[in-house]
Amino acid sequence: MDIKQIEDNYFMHTYKRINLVVKKAKNRFIWDRNGKKYLDFFAGISVCNVGHCNEAVIKAVKKQLDSFAHVSNLYYALPQIKLGEELVKRIFPVGGRVFLSNSGAEANECAIKVAKKWGFLNPSKKGNRYEIICFTNSFHGRTLTTLSATGQEKFHEFFKPLCDGFVFAEINNIDSVKKLLNDRTVAVMIEPIQGEGGIIPSDKVFLKDLRAFCDENNLLLIFDEIQCGVGRTGKFYAFENYDVKPDIVTLAKSLANGLPLGATIAGEKCAEAFSYGEHGSTFGGNPVSCAAALAVLKIINSKFLRTSSKTAEYLRVKLEDLKEKYSVIECIRGLGLMIGICLKVSGKDIVNYCMDRGLIINCTQETVLRLLPPLTITKKDVDFAVKILEEALKWKLTK
Ligand SMILES: Cc1ncc(COP(=O)(O)O)c(C=O)c1O
Repeated sequence: MDIKQIEDNYFMHTYKRINLVVKKAKNRFIWDRNGKKYLDFFAGISVCNVGHCNEAVIKAVKKQLDSFAHVSNLYYALPQIKLGEELVKRIFPVGGRVFLSNSGAEANECAIKVAKKWGFLNPSKKGNRYEIICFTNSFHGRTLTTLSATGQEKFHEFFKPLCDGFVFAEINNIDSVKKLLNDRTVAVMIEPIQGEGGIIPSDKVFLKDLRAFCDENNLLLIFDEIQCGVGRTGKFYAFENYDVKPDIVTLAKSLANGLPLGATIAGEKCAEAFSYGEHGSTFGGNPVSCAAALAVLKIINSKFLRTSSKTAEYLRVKLEDLKEKYSVIECIRGLGLMIGICLKVSGKDIVNYCMDRGLIINCTQETVLRLLPPLTITKKDVDFAVKILEEALKWKLTK
């Protein structure tokens, strides 16, 4: 069966897929249909954070599937209720509320709707507030609203007119944010570490300044932690590295370790914005996904995070060594196991080179090698990955 041909014939041409037909995956490894083994340093774009086919997650999923898969949000489902309580208590123990959806875009869509409703309830002297300050290079999803919040023109090109009410500042430039403030402004929305945009971390001072700016002007601060959350940076939330708390945080991707789930968690300031019937989703907070997420939350405890942080540190040192040796590397940036290797040249052929030698990585923004391995990788995995990366750089320099 020619899988590639069938895909090419029947699927909309949205994904330029890499030549890998996956047969199975376990923890940090993927096998293709010919039995070739790969070390996975991408985890399905930061999704399988606790490893592919994690046993505790599988057990929870199977147990839930044996009970029921779906009943609709007209009724109560225990895993969903337990997960909601757990998520809210972790960040907003007083007055917080959650909405569960299926994906990152939906989680952000909900955050934007909360902000707009809150702006309606808290108008300026000139009326309703609805404008959200976002950032260039950001990525918030592919629905038309989240696309409108995304600060990358290449994604907008054929989809105009976009939704109104999004303006763009520069990350790590508080003056560029302040300049955009007006009577319509209701919120600031940011990925604490931009993912798709090239692994660009916010500065500590900048996020603190943003928090102060939002407080001074009665704005909501929204953190999109869809790529950088759930332990990826060595803390459960990336913002814990910054000592700055948002009013709304969104999670998805790794929350259910491969099952579809999104969460929009709002603090006291805006948690009561919606009234019954103003938002909803048929599949949102699916009980099977929620059972998986409850297992994930159990696994990602402080011991787990300490171990993954140590491995991250080990990887970082090795990558800095590579940078010293190969001037083609401009910088290494990121936090924990969310790492960008910025090159002075294109990185796409390096991804292919690594793939041929059994290492899966990604390249974003043409020149940034993006590493998002499962948080369960070992030092031995790091040694293997760095060895392949070094070979790839040597090869690149001979070209
Ligand atoms: C930071 C961020 N926000 C939102 C999204 C959209 O998530 P989804 O693809 O699940 O809709 C992504 C996806 O890559 C992301 O990285």
